[in-house]
Amino acid sequence: MIVVLIGYMASGKSVIGKVLAENLNYGFIDLDDFIEEKEQKTISDIFKLNGEIRFRKLESHYLQALLSTEDNLVLSLGGGTPCYGDNMKMLLDSDQVKTVYLRASVNTLVNRLKNEKSKRPLIAHIVSEDDLIEFVAKHLFERRQFYEQAEVGITTDNKSVGAISNEISEFLNQ
Ligand code: S3P
Repeated sequence: MIVVLIGYMASGKSVIGKVLAENLNYGFIDLDDFIEEKEQKTISDIFKLNGEIRFRKLESHYLQALLSTEDNLVLSLGGGTPCYGDNMKMLLDSDQVKTVYLRASVNTLVNRLKNEKSKRPLIAHIVSEDDLIEFVAKHLFERRQFYEQAEVGITTDNKSVGAISNEISEFLNQ
């Protein structure tokens, strides 16, 4: 089984993914880290040097590669991964994949993102908090239609990492 965590930037995919992987005794891969390692470039540099379209192609390519070679894995995607090309369909069509959406409110996301903008090229240029709120609200509204296709959605606001990880484990044991 591959447990795939999806959700907006700063929804906790990587932090929760690591704890969940430990609980399940599975491996853990963060797709952004995997791309950076394989390409020997940061995500910001890929955006800057090659453009977002090239990044989206790399993202789909490595997602497909991981799904066809890995097992017993928790895989955290980038915030945009399910929203491009056939990526969401590929996840839903795979018998060995379980998709989990980590749902978080605009407020929660913005509170985290305002201190973590620099390595995220899509929001690095946004200066004021009001502009960030406006951007995240609109962007999340557009992306929600993809995220909500996941087999389970977990509302994460005000819950601990351990509690969220337990909730996901319960879903997997059903
Ligand atoms: C992106 C999210 C990022 C990273 C890239 C694009 C997005 O991952 O893949 O900067 O389109 O939402 P995180 O969700 O881990 O920040």
